[in-house]
Amino acid sequence: TEDEDLKVLLDAERYSLFAGGKRIRPMLTIEFCRLFGGDEAAALPFACAVEMIHTYSLIHDDLPCMDDDDLRRGMPTNHKVYGEAMALLAGDSMFMDAFALTGGNDHVPAKVRAEATVLLSRAAGYGGMVRGQVVDMFGEQNTLTYEELLFLHAHKTGALIRVAAQLGVLAAGLGGGSPEMEAAVGYAERIGLAFQVIDDILDVTSTPEAMGKSVGGDADHHKNTFLSFKSIPEAEAFANALTEEAIALISPFDGSERLIALARYLAVRKV
Ligand code: IPE
Ligand code: IPE
Ligand code: MG
Ligand code: MG
Ligand code: MG
Repeated sequence: TEDEDLKVLLDAERYSLFAGGKRIRPMLTIEFCRLFGGDEAAALPFACAVEMIHTYSLIHDDLPCMDDDDLRRGMPTNHKVYGEAMALLAGDSMFMDAFALTGGNDHVPAKVRAEATVLLSRAAGYGGMVRGQVVDMFGEQNTLTYEELLFLHAHKTGALIRVAAQLGVLAAGLGGGSPEMEAAVGYAERIGLAFQVIDDILDVTSTPEAMGKSVGGDADHHKNTFLSFKSIPEAEAFANALTEEAIALISPFDGSERLIALARYLAVRKV
């Protein structure tokens, strides 16, 4: 029956969504909203939308036609459990349903809902994350310059982390051009880049048991990573420098302790 179809779809979505990710992006949305005096209820639909888009991107990223990975968030990848077609559709659904959350967030004024929806769409789509995935894919056949690698990461990983912070500021009622938004974007761009530097290091140094996802795939797929340009200690020093810059941008604001702790955690994370 139709209900059984829906059950399988929602099971597949819940399987990946509740597999236990670190929830970095929704945390950014909620913490920036709180930092700038907003109500958590206003941030929550935006935070969920960003995490849904992130989770969809992981399901599709793991598909055989992409990175072909078997392990994610400590569990078999979505397509290993539900099959490729259902994994594709579970991702499609989460991608789209996220925009019902941003557009329908009636804890904020209509103008804010609209702005959040546009920003999230841009961050995820052809000018953001998906473009980064295309550059990443093309890069498997080519050697990228360092500038091209920075571009790849700013899109593939950076765009969603950045918009997560932006949506938190919007939920607090502050707009583009405000010093708060500038600080949030500056912080998010730096921790986003540091995040990917660490992701590249862990792909070489960590284990599937520790990470809950496959490792070593970057080398197997001839991916361009920071370790094509830097030694591991150099890459770690770079991530630490970015983290300190990020912290300096938000420490003037009262109540930024949790965001400072989050930045520090990301630089030393093992997962
Ligand atoms: C992994 O992101 C994918 C990249 C963007 C490199 P996370 O490390 O945030 O994954 P989860 O959400 O904790 O599983
Ligand atoms: C995935 O990047 C980024 C997106 C899903 C947009 P990676 O392919 O490096 O992520 P992991 O290492 O599989 O988590
Ligand atoms: Mg990938
Ligand atoms: Mg991958
Ligand atoms: Mg990776």
